[in-house]
Amino acid sequence: MSNRMWGGRFASPPAEIMAEINASIGFDQRLFAQDIRGSMAHAAMLAARGIISAEDAAAIRFGLAAIEAEIDAGTFQFSRELEDIHLNIEARLTERIGPAGGRLHTARSRNDQVATDFRLWVRDTLDTLDDQFKDFQQALAEKALAHAATVMPGFTHLQTAQPVTFGHHLLAYVEMAGRDRGRLQDARRRLNECPLGAAALAGTSFPIDRDMTAAELGFDRPTANSLDAVSDRDFLMESLAMAAIAAVHLSRLAEEIVIWTSAPFGFVKLSDAFTTGSSIMPQKRNPDAAELVRAKTGRINGALIGILTVMKGLPLAYAKDMQEDKEGGFDALAALSLVLAAMTGMIRDLEPDTAAMKAAAGGAYSTATDLADWLVRRLNLPFRDAHHVTGRIVAAAAAAGKPLDALALDQMQAIEPRITAEVFEVLSVENSVKSRTSYGGTAPANVEAQARRWLDRLAAETSAA
Ligand code: ARG
Repeated sequence: MSNRMWGGRFASPPAEIMAEINASIGFDQRLFAQDIRGSMAHAAMLAARGIISAEDAAAIRFGLAAIEAEIDAGTFQFSRELEDIHLNIEARLTERIGPAGGRLHTARSRNDQVATDFRLWVRDTLDTLDDQFKDFQQALAEKALAHAATVMPGFTHLQTAQPVTFGHHLLAYVEMAGRDRGRLQDARRRLNECPLGAAALAGTSFPIDRDMTAAELGFDRPTANSLDAVSDRDFLMESLAMAAIAAVHLSRLAEEIVIWTSAPFGFVKLSDAFTTGSSIMPQKRNPDAAELVRAKTGRINGALIGILTVMKGLPLAYAKDMQEDKEGGFDALAALSLVLAAMTGMIRDLEPDTAAMKAAAGGAYSTATDLADWLVRRLNLPFRDAHHVTGRIVAAAAAAGKPLDALALDQMQAIEPRITAEVFEVLSVENSVKSRTSYGGTAPANVEAQARRWLDRLAAETSAA
């Protein structure tokens, strides 16, 4: 038997392998709710424009609602012969309500239908993700406020550079998540145009009302070019680009958690809730959740490359290649949701070992820059000379096997006679971070203000919503 939905000019069924490669029902069935919503809007518009009768539209609405209930209940029989979710639902509709079901597809094609369904799905998913990003920012900002004055080493090249506060470090990720949300919201704004009514590629001769379906489905307006409408997947590419960049951010934080929880660092502890044991080494506590957050970046970035590669050579308008947009999109956005939830949980869970962080913050001559700055401020040395003098003092401390603030004053004076005992005030890690009051700097007062600014902003979003 040839395909009963489009098989009018076909005498024989597809080869087994053709059905295998062609069918998308295995993965696009998850678009059923969006497909039904789109069909309801389309049917209502066809009736409003007198293209189908009000009775047929009512029967369609009734039938679609019943089908949605069947799918929800798990009793719907999906068929690979019917290729995809669109044909599965339409065939069942006709089975249930008779010829009226066959009128639903007037002035529509699967090309504008799938573009509409997938936009609706991506839009819903972006909205959920935005809430998750917000919760992640909230967790970070709360922890940052609690640790606005907790000193830790700041690194460049993963070498101890200057003391910073743990709160400051966490707020760096709040900023990144803020930009991720900006990209998400920007993608959502551009996504929000309705392809329905573009039909196969050229529009339709029926007197449809595209503004009506667009409004009904919550879109800002219909898409303005029918060829673009059915062949555009920018909404997915932009969403996956956002996801890939966000995943990179989450992966960097995950990597830091892996480093911080390692025994040689010992900066941070995760509770049993976010660690696993080893089956052979009883002492082990492994940060598996952080490692998996780091690793999921692979599939998310992969999905972006996947869709970019699928789209790059396609002539206008629709081509079946575009059916390959879905699995990667579903998988990557689900992975982003999972890693956001896991990372938010870890941030709430983790506790810094403040003593270990402080000890490490003072190691490796981390306040050498403070010494150089003091020489500039108090002795009016040019910074380059101060840098050189400080280098010699650090070398003397290293030769004596002492940290900078344990070096005797006369040993410093042997290098620069005008140094006074006042210098010791800037050599402690606490005073070092306290002095970094420039805008965006790590001074605890700054960090506290920034954490509160974010918390206020997030709270204002909640009350506005
Ligand atoms: N399952 C198809 C997809 O996801 C639906 C559109 C099919 N259109 C067509 N003309 N064969 O792309």
